Amino acid sequence: MAGNWKMYKTPAETSSFFEKFRPLVANSEHCEVVICPPFVNLPAAVEAVRSTSIEVGAQDVFWLKEGAYTGEVSAPMLAAIGCGWVIIGHSERRQYFGETEETVFKKTVAALEAGLKPIVCVGERLQEREAGATEAVLAAQCAGGILPLEPEQFARIVIAYEPVWAIGTGKTATPEMAAEAHRCLRRQVHSRFGEAAAEACRILYGGSVKPDNVKGLMAQPEIDGALVGGASLEPISFASIVNF
Ligand code: PGA
Repeated sequence: MAGNWKMYKTPAETSSFFEKFRPLVANSEHCEVVICPPFVNLPAAVEAVRSTSIEVGAQDVFWLKEGAYTGEVSAPMLAAIGCGWVIIGHSERRQYFGETEETVFKKTVAALEAGLKPIVCVGERLQEREAGATEAVLAAQCAGGILPLEPEQFARIVIAYEPVWAIGTGKTATPEMAAEAHRCLRRQVHSRFGEAAAEACRILYGGSVKPDNVKGLMAQPEIDGALVGGASLEPISFASIVNF
């Protein structure tokens, strides 16, 4: 269960979130819990989860280790401060910041080289779903960003299926729609990495996951977890998603 805070909270607000959140998930051993705050809050988050099983992730990363790239943060920098995960290719980054399949692939490789666990996001836009192109869009996103990985690299990533029309809109995909998209993604994985990899790979659903709809989504065997935006900002809300 991963929380994507997007551009919300200060370091002080991060610390106070964890003070409330830690006891609420102290016995949540059924899943891994990852919080992805903005870069400036990563040190406060890492400090707050010390000696707990909660992990911390970034929301983006650059693909080179260092250099003259004003404003960018590299994977070794994230690893050095105790960040264990990173979201790559979120639809907001694709939509507003020019993320492409090629940059998703390069960032994923860089993250893996630094020992970070990438959560690689894919998902169709509303007009693509309405045009019946969901499967083709997912296939193209996999083909460019994910399938070029080596098998041992692929084994270390988590995929997040996030239909763009469901993000921040309150419109969740039905559990059946999400499961169908996850099956489509597993077919892509199967075609490149084989049956065992397709079964073992973890696919999160993201897009308006809330305490009151998480159970239905998680009842689908195809859905291995959730990437949660808005509902991860508040400790009780995200804890009740973790403890669905
Ligand atoms: P949401 O965001 O839960 O607020 O829809 C999900 C995401 O963008 O990862």
